[in-house]
Amino acid sequence: MAVEGGSMSSRVKYGTVVSLVVVVFAYWYRSPVQDARLDERLDNVLSSLLRAERKVDIDGFARPRVAIGFGGCVDIIVDGVALLDKIGLLPSAQPLHHDYIQNAEQLAQSFAYFFPPGAASERFVMNETLFSQLVEASRELPDNRWSVGGNAPVMAGRMAIEGCEVLLGGSFSPDFTDVLSQHITVAGETVEEPDIHLIMEYPAGATWGQYTSRRANRYIVHSDDHNPYLTSMAEFERKLQGFKPDLLVVGGLQMMDNFPFKQGEREALLGHLAKLLSSAPPETGVHFEMASFVDSNLLGDLQELVLPWADSLGMNEQELPNLLSLLHGTAVTVLSNPNPRVATVLDQMRELYRLLTERHREDR
Ligand SMILES: *[C@@H]1O[C@H](CO)[C@@H](O)[C@H](O)[C@H]1NC(C)=O
Repeated sequence: MAVEGGSMSSRVKYGTVVSLVVVVFAYWYRSPVQDARLDERLDNVLSSLLRAERKVDIDGFARPRVAIGFGGCVDIIVDGVALLDKIGLLPSAQPLHHDYIQNAEQLAQSFAYFFPPGAASERFVMNETLFSQLVEASRELPDNRWSVGGNAPVMAGRMAIEGCEVLLGGSFSPDFTDVLSQHITVAGETVEEPDIHLIMEYPAGATWGQYTSRRANRYIVHSDDHNPYLTSMAEFERKLQGFKPDLLVVGGLQMMDNFPFKQGEREALLGHLAKLLSSAPPETGVHFEMASFVDSNLLGDLQELVLPWADSLGMNEQELPNLLSLLHGTAVTVLSNPNPRVATVLDQMRELYRLLTERHREDR
């Protein structure tokens, strides 16, 4: 017995040492050398770009004028798992996709669906009691952070830093407007209670019960009152005339996704937007910034009413296959590969470009 046990353990040890050596060797041989070369190449490219940028004398130019709509919110950012623990929500044994969230159980199922692959998602919470509970619990978490949120204000802030004069379409509270750059003019109504978005972050390798996240990402929930109605659109349209933008950017439309609109309400809003976009002068570039959509009717409306007016589109590597599957007439991809290969994404971009240009040729 003793001898057998001894030989077993020495075999195990031997095996462990061999695989450790292989791992260490592989690590030493491949990773640092290749990474260093890649880093050096990237550093060269980036510093050359910065040198090229410095050669341009922007003081001699008028500030580019950019109009950006719509919406905005206050983000509260927390650790997702810490928040679920705080409200006592146990990991659901049944990961399920929900288009919107009605109760705590659906929240647990939905989080269990997106958390393991580390896929980004944004969901409307229909239940205001539940949403208030989540926000209250988030306020009490020690590591929470607040920030100005929403695609439009974030893009506006960046553009102002880059030297642009910005017209921002959104309905904000007075203290929000105070913290914006002097180069941003707000067009929209003033509201007392801004919409809050709750950003549940998690790092790669985080655990929630039996689940482990494969990559870092965020699960976002909101229960907006203002953003889905594009409440700033009329005022934005009025100010647009005099502002004469070089570029018109439209984003934030994902807040309409799965929102309980009355019959015909959403179509009317998007029809109004289409009119606004179609009346932009030809010298104004139009950019549409997509985001995460799951409602295929809304995506269909966007394809009819917004995409035809856009000169450029912005989206991430998960939203791209989503739009592509819509154009192919198949179901919306709810969960796409969170780590796609660069070559795959490039192929998808070419395919999207081909499909859209074909479509527009047919339109003419
Ligand atoms: C809404 O959420 C609250 C709090 O979690 C819950 O008590 C209630 O049953 C939910 N309502 C519906 C209709 O699911």
